[in-house]
Amino acid sequence: MTTEVSPLLLVSRGDDHVLRLTLNNPDKRNALATPLLALIADALDAAREDEGVRCAVITGSDKLFAAGADINEIAVKDVAGALADPRVGIWGRIRAFSKPLIAAVEGWCLGAGNELLMCCDLAVAGEGAKFGQPETNLGIIPGAGGTATLPRVVGRMAAMQMVLLGQPIDAATALRLGLIIEVVADGTALARAEALALAIAGRAPVAIRQGKALVNAAFELPHSAHLAAERQAFSALFGTADKAEGIASFKERRSAVWTGH
Ligand code: COA
Repeated sequence: MTTEVSPLLLVSRGDDHVLRLTLNNPDKRNALATPLLALIADALDAAREDEGVRCAVITGSDKLFAAGADINEIAVKDVAGALADPRVGIWGRIRAFSKPLIAAVEGWCLGAGNELLMCCDLAVAGEGAKFGQPETNLGIIPGAGGTATLPRVVGRMAAMQMVLLGQPIDAATALRLGLIIEVVADGTALARAEALALAIAGRAPVAIRQGKALVNAAFELPHSAHLAAERQAFSALFGTADKAEGIASFKERRSAVWTGH
């Protein structure tokens, strides 16, 4: 089932607990203009409330993921406009998505496209994919994680290489650096991402959400506070029906039937 909330973003939510988002502005190389970015955040906000969604996949076309922010928007924005940019809040909503989000990348993944990739929890790419933060080519810097998040993901020097030189890295390098988890044959990234999403959607929903939140906390909290938060979340899961079901299914040597409660 595909719901076209806008031709720019195809949204599909079937009976398999997986939400599929497809960036669909090929003429502008899926540039993440503010309306498109807001559509992504809206779709994820809705999915957070939707018990039928357990995992989401985001992809572009079979040729390109996204070519970055809309350069035409940047061209007309002054300092006041940049400081008051609604994109800051929109990015925050995307980062706050509570369920696993998986990126399937083919071709170019640049600027805000790469920053969107870093909002995802897993990413797979076709072998011809290329990842970059080319903003310094335009006399600016990345504004949504390309300097803040990227070094935490790929390390300081690789981030410097991408930001200071503005040159893309290939899929094999992205894999080596941990920006993505798998390289697959060109044209098969979406199928692989969907297989991962289905696997995750078949697992205990509350534990999966807590697992995402607590792994992400590693980038926010001091270690001792993180260990305490982890213990809290761990303990809270002991009150869930899915914990009882998980233990029972192990003892009875059968597949668990998760309810998400
Ligand atoms: N913002 C707005 N428009 C963009 C864009 C972006 N980030 N990236 C591409 N476009 C537009 C082009 O202006 C062009 O529009 P036009 O047909 O009206 O002239 C159209 O998309 C096709 O772009 P083109 O460069 O001809 O496509 P390509 O397939 O040869 O190259 C890219 C693809 C992604 C390599 C190239 O478009 C590119 O480098 N884009 C900019 C990347 C960037 O600097 N991102 C950071 C932005 S802060």
